[in-house]
Amino acid sequence: MEKERNGHSALCLVLSYPTQGHINPILEFSKRLEHKGIKVTLVTTRFMSKTYHKDASNSIALETISDGYDEGRIGHAESIQAYLERFCRVGSQTLTDLLEKLSSSSNSVDCIVYDAFLPWALDVAKKFGLVGAVFFTQSCAVDNVYYHVHKGLLKSPPSEPQILLPGLPPLQPQDMPSFIYDLESYPAFFDMVVSQFSNVDKADWVICNTFYELEPEVVDWMAKMWPLRTVGPTIPSMFLDKRLEDDKDYGFSIFKPNSDACMKWLNDHPKGSVVYVSFGSLASLDVEQMEELAWGLRKSNSFFLWVVRAFEEAKLPKNFVEETSDKGLVVHWCPQLEVLTHEAIGCFVTHCGWNSTLEALSLGVPMVAVPQWTDQTTNAKYIMDVWKMGLKAPADEKGFVRREAVERCIREIMEGEKGKEIKKNALKWKTLAKEAVDQGGSSDKNIEEFVTKLAHS
Ligand code: UDX
Repeated sequence: MEKERNGHSALCLVLSYPTQGHINPILEFSKRLEHKGIKVTLVTTRFMSKTYHKDASNSIALETISDGYDEGRIGHAESIQAYLERFCRVGSQTLTDLLEKLSSSSNSVDCIVYDAFLPWALDVAKKFGLVGAVFFTQSCAVDNVYYHVHKGLLKSPPSEPQILLPGLPPLQPQDMPSFIYDLESYPAFFDMVVSQFSNVDKADWVICNTFYELEPEVVDWMAKMWPLRTVGPTIPSMFLDKRLEDDKDYGFSIFKPNSDACMKWLNDHPKGSVVYVSFGSLASLDVEQMEELAWGLRKSNSFFLWVVRAFEEAKLPKNFVEETSDKGLVVHWCPQLEVLTHEAIGCFVTHCGWNSTLEALSLGVPMVAVPQWTDQTTNAKYIMDVWKMGLKAPADEKGFVRREAVERCIREIMEGEKGKEIKKNALKWKTLAKEAVDQGGSSDKNIEEFVTKLAHS
């Protein structure tokens, strides 16, 4: 049933940072809001709206603003810092234009949910007297690290060998997000992640893409500071609680998935026999790392389905695809959720992007963690030591995970004693994730509270 506010159905604009890893959780959150009677319009950049995979239409209304690059950033040698500054300037203006356009129609907006990477959206929301809700796409543990750096409570890079933060297990410097422990490599990204907290105290809601049972201590600690609510896992209902009947077209995909080829290939393989490998939408592997991974997969003697994005393909060892065609399938992009729920999958070699991590946890797929950068290093620590959902493949002094380590971790999960324990834990997390979003679960109650308060504010 639609929730009324001031005599009209409450309307939320939901603004995403324009990458796959941000659009996916924000879109899923939007669908859950709609399910509870709030009208939602997803807002992304003009360029992103042109590049979505066309078959992936869905029921959420879409509007666009500009980041200053309506034809894309390709060919622009500018830094992420300059990009963000331009996005702030042009985005604030075009979001203002959009709100003015909507307020002169019957669709006046009540609330803006905005990606934490775009804190300026809160200023625009407040200028129009709207409710402002910041959406953190990554784990609360990672957010808490960034918060401490923002407040000057933690040095970057950290100086102590063991870092103790409230709500987190003891961390070593390399368990920190790479933007914190390797500041020199990522100065502009450092500013971006730390700026997420620049005006968070003024937000009416702080929404986190996690679920309470996954990170209770850190959620409790952060919730003392802000009206923080967990709403995850942000996974299409059709794969989890199956409560949203209209959840047929479940995403916006930037790359075109080779769906038929993948699913047909998986159907031909026995239960639990396939290693799924993906490094998400952004990570760029070193050629040497790619080679080690390739031969590690081969040596593991398991079947494998490996997503190698088109512009990474040239890094594969020569003739690898042909020589391993009896064991593996290499594709440019796949329907990851369908793949992870396929019974042929036995484990997931992952870069530990937060979406992939949440998806594997929620669908009960054990992981081999091969983190690359950003939050992935912290996620990998949790996967192995906190949630006990996988093994982190050790890297050598050059930072590469060698083929022997890849092989050993895969074999341990697919056939070993540790694998049995991990598979047991995987089932536990799968149940808890489903319960969190199911009726009356921790995330479901939080979403209910958000929409009810919005309707009555
Ligand atoms: C980025 C960062 O790298 C990540 O660390 C951060 O947590 C979120 O933003 P990305 O690298 O793309 O994201 O990884 P991830 O968070 O795992 O998101 C990838 C998404 O693409 C997942 O939802 C996954 O299901 C989807 N995907 C991936 C596909 O649909 N098909 C594929 O072949 C690969």
